[in-house]
Amino acid sequence: MTWKVGLLFSETGVTSIIEQSQLNGALLAIDQINEKGGVLGRKIEPVSYNPASIVQKYGELCEKLIVDHKINVIFGCYMSSSRKEVLPIIERRNALFFYPTLYEGFEYSPNVIYGGASPNQNSVPLGNYLMENFGGRLFFVGSDYIYPRESNRVMRNVLRQGGGEVLGEVYFDLESKGADFDNTITDIKRAAPDAIFSTVVGQSCIEFYRAYLAADGDSATCPIASLTTNEGEIAAIGPEASEGHITAAPYFRSIASPENQSFLAAYQKKFGSTVDVTSCCEAAYCQVHMFARALEITGEIDTVALRDVILGMSFDAPQGQIKIDPDNNHTYLQSRIAKVDARGEFVIQSQVRRAIKPDPYLVSPTIYDLHFRQLEVSEGG
Ligand code: ACM
Repeated sequence: MTWKVGLLFSETGVTSIIEQSQLNGALLAIDQINEKGGVLGRKIEPVSYNPASIVQKYGELCEKLIVDHKINVIFGCYMSSSRKEVLPIIERRNALFFYPTLYEGFEYSPNVIYGGASPNQNSVPLGNYLMENFGGRLFFVGSDYIYPRESNRVMRNVLRQGGGEVLGEVYFDLESKGADFDNTITDIKRAAPDAIFSTVVGQSCIEFYRAYLAADGDSATCPIASLTTNEGEIAAIGPEASEGHITAAPYFRSIASPENQSFLAAYQKKFGSTVDVTSCCEAAYCQVHMFARALEITGEIDTVALRDVILGMSFDAPQGQIKIDPDNNHTYLQSRIAKVDARGEFVIQSQVRRAIKPDPYLVSPTIYDLHFRQLEVSEGG
């Protein structure tokens, strides 16, 4: 007898670059748990489907995992559109869904454990960092679906409260290629913003950064700032077109902690390389470990029992200590801002002293009061 869990990450298609890293993070955690004998003497058995980055397929395959395989714990999804697709199925069948991805907030489901950053943990600090270090006149460029549109709404409010302004807002198809960005890059250069806020995701993100460099976009005077351009995308973009650009995330591969070093060593051993280790990969890894700890206590894969145990649980993650907030099913996370150096590595510029409580509905009136530390950072080091 095993404990079966479902995995729903795309190994092909436009968001596979990031979802493959999430799948790897989940598989690594499952291996580690099984190598120690599993949970209560039973191994965890993953049943994995590839939705190929096609939104409708996430729903179909989620239903298949629950109905055909009788599985009620599933880890999956990157794009918010795919999460919205599985949400009614998860709720109707009372399953437990672990979502290891940053997203736009403004959602709560009793059937979802949200493991990625909410806007108060990434958008708000990033907006403030840009206003302090570059200026508050931003140009928004995004992929055309819910996460970019909603993230831009939040960022617009952050700028408005800080005295900044939005100079332009343009959306692109997920399949967009380099030349598709040319007219917008011309418009950006004409508008001369202080920075670009990019919510372009997946393969088209790589095309966008390269097109920006090809049009002589200068990261020193007008960087691209993002929540979704992580290590996997940076590796694909290459150091030349990514140097000087900025990302906000709870985790970066360059964190020097012992927990991160042992996570990276295990990942390297299993997958042969750590170039694609991202905050979303780390979130999937942590969520599987936290699920296993909850299962150790409940002794049964029961949605209500597992949720009861997992809410409030802490974990010493590669990013630092995290905790699932019993108020809203989201996660207390670290918050960091990093800049890409000449080697294509993220160098952390600022970080909070301790994990930030998730505020997915941005109800806190003091959204700037985050106790950030600007770090003394030597470029290239
Ligand atoms: C996302 O769509 N939540 C990145």
